[in-house]
Amino acid sequence: MRFLSSRRRHPAAKVLLLVAALFVMGAFYSVVAPASQSAADTGTSQQVAEGKALFQVGCASCHGLNGEGQGGDAAEGLGPSLVGVGAASVDFQVGTGRMPMARPAQQAPQKESVYTDEEVAALAAYVASLGPGPEIPSEQDYTPAGISEEDLAKGGELFRANCSACHNFAGAGGALPNGKYAPSLYGVSDKHIYEAMVTGPQQMPVFSDNVITPEDKRAIIGYLSELHEQPEQGGHSLGGIGPVSEGLWTFVIGLGGLIAFSVWIAAKGARAR
Ligand code: HEC
Ligand code: HEC
Repeated sequence: MRFLSSRRRHPAAKVLLLVAALFVMGAFYSVVAPASQSAADTGTSQQVAEGKALFQVGCASCHGLNGEGQGGDAAEGLGPSLVGVGAASVDFQVGTGRMPMARPAQQAPQKESVYTDEEVAALAAYVASLGPGPEIPSEQDYTPAGISEEDLAKGGELFRANCSACHNFAGAGGALPNGKYAPSLYGVSDKHIYEAMVTGPQQMPVFSDNVITPEDKRAIIGYLSELHEQPEQGGHSLGGIGPVSEGLWTFVIGLGGLIAFSVWIAAKGARAR
């Protein structure tokens, strides 16, 4: 104490005090400031390196050693360039088991995912490092929990306007030209629905945030989970494929019945004469 107070007026004291104050501020800031940077940054360099190693084993044969692509014809099994497709696309494609594609086909089918969650994250981080693209959404982006009735109704409207042409009114899926199909949306996770909208796999268009805002995406997801929780409304669903089967049913039973009836009347009429 004596030591300090005797040197209080030393010319260096002010400087030292300033340095000490700065140091305390710095330490305080590093504790208090949110670790936003490192958390937002999806790919740590270690993850990217791991992803690259996995990529070279499992994906490079079709997508090229550096993800540059080989033409991208699914029927020939040549993968497209992955530069700029983003982490969301990898999370969707690998998470739904579409990738790695097992063999050339018109369209990569869904199957059990062969990678662990950490491996998918590493692959996604690696592909995201190739070029900027849509990020993997966070849970609050896609979870429809607590969504209002009004939003659900809006989600239904948006679904019918933007999605039902391919995926059917009930989300049961449907065929597309050239042996391709829009899959059924039953049992697809909320996250994968969100990712499908932002990445537009295959024939599906990309629904960017200007076209369908993040809140509206959540409304669509809420509508789909509500729809798929509902029990069947009774009656025969006729395969749930909409106007085609319903029209056929009317045609065969309705018109067929009328024809049979008129034939029967004509036969009776002839006998009566
Ligand atoms: C047998 C070849 C093959 C293998 C192996 C393969 N892919 Fe693909 N990949 C394709 C083809 C073909 C497409 C185009 C898909 C389509 O048209 O359905 C594609 C599409 C993708 C897409 C979507 C690109 C876009 O435009 O959104 C991603 C992401 C992807 N692959 C990642 C991977 C990853 C990661 C692996 C390794 C785990 C992998 N692929 C392994 C052939 C392959
Ligand atoms: C032009 C037709 C088309 C439209 C419109 C369309 N989709 Fe798709 N969708 C597809 C096709 C084709 C696939 C399959 C892609 C593949 O297998 O690579 C698909 C896949 C999906 C998947 C993945 C399903 C799974 O089994 O993993 C989801 C989820 C999805 N679509 C949701 C939507 C939503 C929500 C909308 C409306 C906002 C929409 N789609 C609009 C054609 C379409």
